Amino acid sequence: MSTASKAYGPLTTAPFGSIFRPARILVADKELLSREVVARKLESLGYICDCCEDSHSALDILAGHSYDLILTDIVPPEKGGVDFLKNILQIRPGIAVILVTSDVNIEVAVDALKHGAYDYITKPFNMEELSIGVSRALEKRRMILENQSYQRTLEEQVASRTVQLRDALGILEQTYHSTLVALSKALDSRHADSEGHTLRITVYGSRLAQALCMSESEIRVMEQGILLHDVGNIGIPDALLEKKDALDENECLLMRNHPEIGFRILSRIKFLEESAKLVLQHHERYNGQGYPQGLQGEDIHLGARIFAVADMFETLTYSRFSCTAENIESACMEINKMSGTLLDPVIVDQFLKIPQHEWKEISSNITKNAGLSKMRRIEKKKNGN
Ligand SMILES: [Fe+2]
Ligand SMILES: [Fe+2]
Repeated sequence: MSTASKAYGPLTTAPFGSIFRPARILVADKELLSREVVARKLESLGYICDCCEDSHSALDILAGHSYDLILTDIVPPEKGGVDFLKNILQIRPGIAVILVTSDVNIEVAVDALKHGAYDYITKPFNMEELSIGVSRALEKRRMILENQSYQRTLEEQVASRTVQLRDALGILEQTYHSTLVALSKALDSRHADSEGHTLRITVYGSRLAQALCMSESEIRVMEQGILLHDVGNIGIPDALLEKKDALDENECLLMRNHPEIGFRILSRIKFLEESAKLVLQHHERYNGQGYPQGLQGEDIHLGARIFAVADMFETLTYSRFSCTAENIESACMEINKMSGTLLDPVIVDQFLKIPQHEWKEISSNITKNAGLSKMRRIEKKKNGN
């Protein structure tokens, strides 16, 4: 470990290296007399100076001590000046470097400037030139460090605001989702025995979408569409919705308007624009026999094709009033028969790969919760609340 030799002279004024501290300078010069004269001058200006005589000891000292500036006339013969500079900056990235050079190696000095040196002073120089060069380099360094610190603060602020914004968006998204779930429950409540119907299809659809490796945002859009798939029923008379007998031709035509009514309502709401496509196409069928547009195959929105499988499963299981293992097995067999006709074969494949007990768990969890909320409503009604 090299030791820096102290230069002479008392500390008089106090040019600062950073706030409240005089700048520390390492003078690296192979000539004893030269480095002592330079160091004495700099100390007389208020800087704290140490000296060393060759590149090895300079790097050694820098590794152990912090300096604001190095003034060096050393260009090691075994390495180019640029390599020495690179080593200095690697050890002390923020240090200001001033090269003292003779006319003969001015090219090395210019090259060093390109690689991060602050300045160079050509020999012979007078002390006035030296003090101006040092003070200018320290001022430049101060501004660079302040700028870096400002950038860091700015980046930290941006990062912290980004987290706050993300949290706020998360809460907003959760609120949207809860509102849509509440709306879908309100729509379901227009029909007897359809408690949990939409929520079950939504969760079946999500499970399928995960199996199909859809992204989180695609799944979110699809869920919104499924939750609101029958929102267009708002425009259909209650008498028609509640009719137990088969619908006549005119009634069928009227009923078939609900996807377009739903689309018109939702497509005007910015965050539901994409989900509105699912709503419009939720009665389209893979073989083109659906409505309202009679779309075929992959022309149908992926979310709507997933919905078709989930909805079919809900129809085949829930209509039997209990989602037993036997019902699920026979529903799976029937869905398999519809693969490539009413339903998309790729989605049916994924559906059949998911273990049947998973479908059962999803169904009973939602039905249990829906049942509880229904019981609460009946209880409230009985108590006159
Ligand atoms: Fe519908
Ligand atoms: Fe439905």
